[in-house]
Amino acid sequence: MSLPRLAAMAIVQRDLGPRSPWGAFKRAVAAADDVLYDLIRRRRADPSGDSILGMLLGARHDDGTQPSDQEVRDQLVTLLAAGHETTATALAWALERLARDPALTARLRAQLDDGDERLLDAVVKETLRVRPVLSIAPRKTVQSFTVGGWELPAGVHVAPCIYLTHRRADLYPPDPAAFRPERFLEGAPERYGWIPFGGGVRRCLGAAFATLEMREVLRAVVTAVDVRPDRARGERVRRRSVVLAPARGARVVVRPVGG
Ligand code: HEM
Repeated sequence: MSLPRLAAMAIVQRDLGPRSPWGAFKRAVAAADDVLYDLIRRRRADPSGDSILGMLLGARHDDGTQPSDQEVRDQLVTLLAAGHETTATALAWALERLARDPALTARLRAQLDDGDERLLDAVVKETLRVRPVLSIAPRKTVQSFTVGGWELPAGVHVAPCIYLTHRRADLYPPDPAAFRPERFLEGAPERYGWIPFGGGVRRCLGAAFATLEMREVLRAVVTAVDVRPDRARGERVRRRSVVLAPARGARVVVRPVGG
């Protein structure tokens, strides 16, 4: 969670014992690996059932060989690290925002009852716009080029800022900070004006899956329960490892719809 420790870990990368940043990181990775390799071993021994892990184990390289335990482990880490906290945090923000707009939530519920998912889609998009989970999509330039009048030499790091792009008043007038999903029903955002999943060849691999997950969960929650905030004031944005999360964990009070 600590930015100085993260920076120290990345720079030093030396195991100076379990209390040193890199030492603690290596031990945490080893503990997680134990769990994952055990899971892989057990699933290889009993491949029954339908699961992503089963599909990974069933995949073959172009030359027909099967993936090694380490390759499968790497895929699982990617799914867990890139796919879990991001979507969970985006969903937390969706509920944090919806809870503070009962009229919007009522409209959403009514549309869902009619089988209309356009507002649901807009809520997902607006959540990712106004509370992007990741703030930047960094790149290292391989050749020099000019952008917005700035000449960037080869070999430098640049970080397009998702957060600031989404807050541009010229792209999201009149109040870019307002949570107003209907804006996505009025017209599509400018290309590269909505970049919660980054862009280009390294755009998020799980964007479609994440959006699907968010829609599924929000549909289920909004149609089943009424969500109210525990406090009127919206939650502050707090960095949580690499994601920007609601400071208090998106605390809401739920009641059955109409209850
Ligand atoms: C709301 C949820 C998510 C958000 C906001 C998000 C956001 C991002 C962003 C900003 C990037 C960097 C893109 C770039 O540099 O242009 C990224 C990369 C990536 N994401 Fe996601 N992500 C989410 C969910 C997921 C899920 C569910 C998965 C997998 C199932 C996933 C897998 C990946 C992978 C593998 C990359 C690296 C792609 C590459 O470098 O080629 N993400 N994501």
